[in-house]
Amino acid sequence: MKYVIINGSPRKKNTWSVVKQVKSNLEGEFEEIHLASRKIPMCNGCFKCIMEGENVCPHFDYVNPIVEKLKECDGIIIASPVYAMNVTALLKNFLDHTAYFYHRPEFFTKKALVVVTTAGAGHKKVAKYIDETLRHWGVNRVYTIAMACGGKDHLETSEIDKTSRKFLDDLKSGGLHSPKFGDIVFFDVWKAMALSKDPIKADSEFWHNTGLVNHDFAPEVKLNVFKKLFSKIMFFILKRVMK
Ligand SMILES: Cc1cc2nc3c(=O)[nH]c(=O)nc-3n(C[C@H](O)[C@H](O)[C@H](O)COP(=O)(O)O)c2cc1C
Repeated sequence: MKYVIINGSPRKKNTWSVVKQVKSNLEGEFEEIHLASRKIPMCNGCFKCIMEGENVCPHFDYVNPIVEKLKECDGIIIASPVYAMNVTALLKNFLDHTAYFYHRPEFFTKKALVVVTTAGAGHKKVAKYIDETLRHWGVNRVYTIAMACGGKDHLETSEIDKTSRKFLDDLKSGGLHSPKFGDIVFFDVWKAMALSKDPIKADSEFWHNTGLVNHDFAPEVKLNVFKKLFSKIMFFILKRVMK
């Protein structure tokens, strides 16, 4: 089992101590990416990744090595403390640089674990934000550990252990979960956009080259008959709306 850990904290303290506890429950190889040491310049909002392709991002050389690691691994771990009721700027900057995954999701066979710590507030909301982002990337199942550390000498480890073991068991099972209806809707939105009259070039190429335009959802993930029908109806409606 291969894991990539993306650490959005600028230091190795509360959040990292939870990650270390998570690691003690998992089996395999870990690639640690500490965003603070990667010095990724701020996203300058040029839209190139979205419109022309991620390879023309001016910061491609910083971002792509991390993305390649994500593509190769089995399990993704994303960790961040709460800063001003959100993720850290380090993590947000990385997520901004990978916003094209919203249009061109690639991680349908991956599972992820999100770790968020806070002094007292915002942990659930921030974990939910990272969960939603990963689901837009296509990630099949996201587990979350969201903890308030304020004033505690040591953290309650039972929740950490329980969730990380569930994550491990899921990875070991090799099975993929059926998507939520919301995930199917987003799949159909981007598919309909890629097949619209005037599509974004990079999106159109991705959806055609991967063959995803021919499917109701990523082909590796099985849909039952209701979800298949739901996807077909959604796509039909969205195509008409986009016309
Ligand atoms: C710049 C900054 C902003 C923070 N904002 C919040 C906040 O909005 N709410 C909160 O409860 N804790 C906040 N905290 C506290 C951290 O989320 C908390 O201490 C966290 O566990 C730190 O993790 P770390 O040791 O990995 O850096 C903030 C801390 C810093 C440094």
